[in-house]
Amino acid sequence: MEKFYEASKAEGPIDFINVFDLEEAAKTVIPTGGYGYINSGAGDIFTYRENERAFNHKLIIPHVLKDVELPDTTTEFAGDKLTAPIIMAPVAAHGLANVAAEEASAKGVATFGTIYTASSYASRTLEEIRAAGGADAPQWFQFYMSKDDGINRDILDMAKRNGAKAIVLTADATVGGNRETDRRNGFTFPLAMPIVQAYQSGIGQTMDAVYGSSKQKLSPKDVEFIAKYSELPVYVKGVQSEEDVERALGSGANGIWVSNHGGRQLDGGPASFDSLQYVAEAVNGRAPIVFDSGVRRGQHIFKAIASGADLVAIGRPAIYGLALGGATGVIQVFEFFKRELEMVMQLAGAQTVEDIKKTKLRENNYC
Ligand code: FNR
Ligand code: LAC
Repeated sequence: MEKFYEASKAEGPIDFINVFDLEEAAKTVIPTGGYGYINSGAGDIFTYRENERAFNHKLIIPHVLKDVELPDTTTEFAGDKLTAPIIMAPVAAHGLANVAAEEASAKGVATFGTIYTASSYASRTLEEIRAAGGADAPQWFQFYMSKDDGINRDILDMAKRNGAKAIVLTADATVGGNRETDRRNGFTFPLAMPIVQAYQSGIGQTMDAVYGSSKQKLSPKDVEFIAKYSELPVYVKGVQSEEDVERALGSGANGIWVSNHGGRQLDGGPASFDSLQYVAEAVNGRAPIVFDSGVRRGQHIFKAIASGADLVAIGRPAIYGLALGGATGVIQVFEFFKRELEMVMQLAGAQTVEDIKKTKLRENNYC
């Protein structure tokens, strides 16, 4: 970590009403460059904004007399019992938010009891992330491939050695989105990316340079390569269309991760929640679906699951919690989403996650 970058050292309970409070408060503890990198979207942030607005395109009908109390948010995914269908999205460089970095976030997510997705561009090694989460914590590895397949095999070996239960191939970031905030801040990463050291140091690099050093010419062959070599399930992240569903499943992907990278990539594209409607129809039960981008409320999670997602991933809110409260802050953020989801389930008459999956949302013809 270069001396001029002072990340938060916070560890302990935080006081907040909702995750928008955290977004504001995190500004005071994360240095400007790091906050700009975490918080910002691409270009005119049209897609970033649409991510949240789009949840209003579908409505949850409150139901009465459904004999529901103490809704149960637990679910099972690929043999892992989860506290809720809410998981940690892969986010680079947690060291920008807190000096404890992924060791704190992995500990917090494991304590809450759900899946943690480690980014290739993490500030810690997979050994450290595994140790922090504990031997039995369900952890996935998000892979930014190198241009060199020898390095790719080494990184996949690292992921397997450290108990990764799935590989998430991020396919929507072969070049950086138009990150104007980072350019205004002259942001370069102040800390290392140990997992991809063989092809990218991280330190002093712009996001564009980091993306440029990874494999950009991704094809179905890469899914086949990863699946064959790692012998792990492969989820393709960044799928937003029926055409890409067929390309991903046709190449042997085991799951689809619907995402627009939190509005950080192609500005002018659709909201991720709107894409979910098309993707879920195209997948048609052939594979599990993870959904992310713009999730800030329990009702967003409810709507995503009612629209076909099996799991919903959280990005920025967890990082704000990390900055403000370390592992405890991360736990509180997931507990916030679980609490809100329970309330929505009660009012919508859904006792279990299976009930949510069977829930019919109503089109909002007024927006
Ligand atoms: C990300 N995201 C991301 N995705 C990925 O596949 N690998 C990565 O290393 C990163 N890094 C990253 C850094 C930061 C600071 C952010 C905010 C996001 C995208 C992430 O996985 C997820 O798609 C979005 O964050 C979801 O949107 P919300 O929840 O942040 O609105
Ligand atoms: C980002 C990359 C690391 O969104 O995925 O910044």
